[in-house]
Amino acid sequence: MSYTVSTLRTMTRSCELMRDRVKSVVFRPEDRKVLDVTFGPTAAAELVGRTPEALAKAEKEGRLAPPKQLGNGRRYYTLEDLTQIRNALNIHPGKAADEDAVVVAVQNFKGGVGKSTITKHFADYLALRGFNVLVIDCDPQASTTTMFDIQPETLIDEERTLGNFLSPRSTFDDFSQAIHDTAWPTIKIVPSSLGLQDAEWDLTATLQEGGQAVRESLQRLRIGIASVTKDFDVILLDPPPAMGFLGLNVMAAATGLLVPVPARQLDYLSTIHFMDTIAENIEILEAHGTPVDYGFIRVVCSTYTPSKPGEADMWKMMKATYANFLLSQPILASEEIKNATQAFRSIYESKPSASHATYQRCRDNLNAVFDEVLQQVREQWPSQSIATGTPDLLGSAAA
Ligand SMILES: Nc1ncnc2c1ncn2[C@@H]1O[C@H](COP(=O)(O)OP(=O)(O)OP(=O)(O)O)[C@@H](O)[C@H]1O
Ligand SMILES: [Mg+2]
Repeated sequence: MSYTVSTLRTMTRSCELMRDRVKSVVFRPEDRKVLDVTFGPTAAAELVGRTPEALAKAEKEGRLAPPKQLGNGRRYYTLEDLTQIRNALNIHPGKAADEDAVVVAVQNFKGGVGKSTITKHFADYLALRGFNVLVIDCDPQASTTTMFDIQPETLIDEERTLGNFLSPRSTFDDFSQAIHDTAWPTIKIVPSSLGLQDAEWDLTATLQEGGQAVRESLQRLRIGIASVTKDFDVILLDPPPAMGFLGLNVMAAATGLLVPVPARQLDYLSTIHFMDTIAENIEILEAHGTPVDYGFIRVVCSTYTPSKPGEADMWKMMKATYANFLLSQPILASEEIKNATQAFRSIYESKPSASHATYQRCRDNLNAVFDEVLQQVREQWPSQSIATGTPDLLGSAAA
């Protein structure tokens, strides 16, 4: 054995020992996130789509249990209470049982544009409104996984991972077994794991075989999702910031695309390149027997500070460029979001870090943005569609 190989092997053994020590320290079930989110009568009513008066009436008539009360008499509801209210009043915000989940890829090949932040916040937004959500973290960096309180290190010896499901070298093929619970009762996650990068190399290696092997490599995620698509309303995909086999799997599995673009000159220009690359990649997928057809494509301005030099102009340019494909509201850059994500939380899970008014403004802004995305999602379900005829991409194309 050469000196180099034996040195590397020694380092590997040393790393394995350290890994086991890290695992025993990192994975402490008692440290897991506990959700502490409650709602007053007005917020609760809004989230279930009724007026506070309607809820009060149902409580008075005994159709709903009376709400919990704090020591000072203020009434409040928990997430579980909201679920009970929906069940009792027959409120079904999601798809019909026989319909498929809408699979939204939050996709941009550029790094740091807000993909994971949007994925986490949109998942929480949907869960608050009673939707069943599956988040699939396809990025080996695992930021979304961490925000759902799973440490990728804890999955090291786990066989049932996304990486193993995707890898043609692995025999693990029951996608549903890679799904984990989160602190949110109606959000599940397929976490990223350290082996995801290896899986991408294994998928890429099929290029040498060509034909059927490449097609299967491009469709792995799509096939996995198909096996659970009736169980969720919305499936969110958080891809890595690069185009490779993982990114292609995400594009092949998605049924709708949300493209985050910050209001910065460089990101704007790289998005032009991105749109081109998307089109090229769709052609690659088609050439390998994997046609895709998105129900919607929307660009979202993912960080905007109107007072920053140049950003207001960028926002105007984005509106002129993307027209109807751009969500009408930009996501404002906010210390609230920054602070929350640094603590691995969404603002929906955290308390105001500065004034309540600033926090509420940030929340209202995100809600307005996600209301628009939800509208697109709903239109994909025939049972809920308010669309009139022409498919979105053709019908509402930039005028
Ligand atoms: N609206 C916002 N206001 C303030 N900070 C934001 C906002 N959106 C995202 N950020 C911050 O920008 C940084 C990058 O965001 P994020 O990790 O979501 O990007 P990403 O596209 O997923 O990156 P990567 O390509 O590395 O996966 C994070 O620190 C996040 O907190
Ligand atoms: Mg990310």
